[in-house]
Amino acid sequence: MHHRKDITFTKPSIYRPGIEEYCDANSAPQNAQLSAITTLTYERCPEWANIISSHLQGNLLTALVRSMRARHCLEVGAFTGHGAVALAAGLEPDGTVTTIDDFSADERAREVFLEAALTSGPGPMITLVEQQALTALREIEMPDGGFDLIFVDADKPNYFAYYETIMERDLLSPHGLLIFDNTLWGGAAAADGASAEPDVGETDEARRWLHEMWTDWADAVRVFNQKVCQDPRTVTTLLPLRDGMTLVQRVRGGV
Ligand SMILES: C[S@@+](CC[C@H](N)C(=O)[O-])C[C@H]1O[C@@H](n2cnc3c(N)ncnc32)[C@H](O)[C@@H]1O
Repeated sequence: MHHRKDITFTKPSIYRPGIEEYCDANSAPQNAQLSAITTLTYERCPEWANIISSHLQGNLLTALVRSMRARHCLEVGAFTGHGAVALAAGLEPDGTVTTIDDFSADERAREVFLEAALTSGPGPMITLVEQQALTALREIEMPDGGFDLIFVDADKPNYFAYYETIMERDLLSPHGLLIFDNTLWGGAAAADGASAEPDVGETDEARRWLHEMWTDWADAVRVFNQKVCQDPRTVTTLLPLRDGMTLVQRVRGGV
């Protein structure tokens, strides 16, 4: 077929229902260990299970770690271990994943982490630090050369503090990649918060709590996105994958 220069062509937007499922179906299947963690998470922590990272995110984390030949990874927000195992799955045999959680979102996540993530194939590479995340980031011992990949996936109001601590302590290796999850916050980050609120909560009190949490976190994510994107020390790419994933690297040569 020939290209015609007399016809205007605009591609339709990919942001519509069904696209994520299509991507899942046309990607390598979720590895069996990650799939087991996902199933157990929905069984044991049903109310908050959907904060677990997804099939595509797991594939992406594994691919990035593998192609970077990363040696040391750090995760902020372990939950049931899906992200930690996805990171570990891409490591060279002498690699490590340190993951931090205080299990404030759901205490029951700890059991799933210990039972399914630590006992999985790459489990021996993973160390759990049970601590409040900001304290842990301030105290954590840095491996030789720093962390090659840091995946931040915890409470959004602290995202900028996590970012500043990582930068100030120079926790990231010179070629390292820093990834923040949920940086679109259900789309609300891009729409002044009001648009897509979750329509759940069984009582008025629960709905009020959810509304407040949703809007506070949307505001925090929006401020975070703006500040990081304007930081001359780094280059930032916000990807519309799942709930938004922001990739940050130090500028070449460092500032
Ligand atoms: C979205 S989940 C993490 C999901 C996980 N990264 C994955 O890939 O499935 C967020 C986790 O961060 C933890 N968290 C939230 N705020 C925290 C804090 N201030 N300190 C430590 N952990 C925290 C919660 O307990 C929860 O388990």
